[in-house]
Amino acid sequence: MDFILRKAEPRDVSDILRLVKDLAKYEDMEKQVMLTEKELLEDGFGDTPFYHCIIAEIQGERRTDGTNHHTATELMQVKGQPVVGFAMYYFTYDPWVGKQLYLEEFYVMEQYRGLGLGSRLLRHLSDLAITMRCSGMMFVVAENNEPSIQFYKRRGAEDLSQEEGWRLFRFDKDSLVKMAAPAEE
Ligand code: COA
Repeated sequence: MDFILRKAEPRDVSDILRLVKDLAKYEDMEKQVMLTEKELLEDGFGDTPFYHCIIAEIQGERRTDGTNHHTATELMQVKGQPVVGFAMYYFTYDPWVGKQLYLEEFYVMEQYRGLGLGSRLLRHLSDLAITMRCSGMMFVVAENNEPSIQFYKRRGAEDLSQEEGWRLFRFDKDSLVKMAAPAEE
């Protein structure tokens, strides 16, 4: 089977949301996905994109004679969806070392894993990070996601929680509202 990697377009938001939900389900946190297609569209494809995505898409299956068996459209009818994986990222800034690529979401549908797609997505992002003169690629992995921890470590990733003792924090919306300036009367 042939795959291509391409930049996400506005028409991809339904597939992006489907894969975001799949990954949340994989992490047993599906109920925490609040986002809608409308927000994904506005936030990723407006004047100031807050995220970018690389899409992994099936191009067609090869016959034994080497020719393509199905078009992507035919495959969609036969197998469901041509979009089978994605990486969501954006750029952040570290005042010690400068630009960083932040890998926010990384997912390949279960039946397409182990075919090298994840490695291709990472290669693509690494090329991009180097072109943009980033000093690294940051990401968070759930502590119980051992297969992915090993996947990243085999490719040289450092576990900063373990090695440098960083802890991940968040102010949720309620905390923000409490800290924010009260609305003028
Ligand atoms: N499923 C998963 N991995 C398999 C596999 C299978 N059925 N069969 C083999 N593997 C091995 C591959 O040999 C390869 O080993 P390597 O690290 O020695 O190269 C590795 O697992 C998978 O490599 P690759 O095929 O390039 O990646 P992938 O397309 O399977 O994608 C992930 C990698 C992490 C994106 C994918 O496994 C995934 O979506 N996992 C669930 C979601 C997740 O944990 N995402 C990351 C959140 S931080």
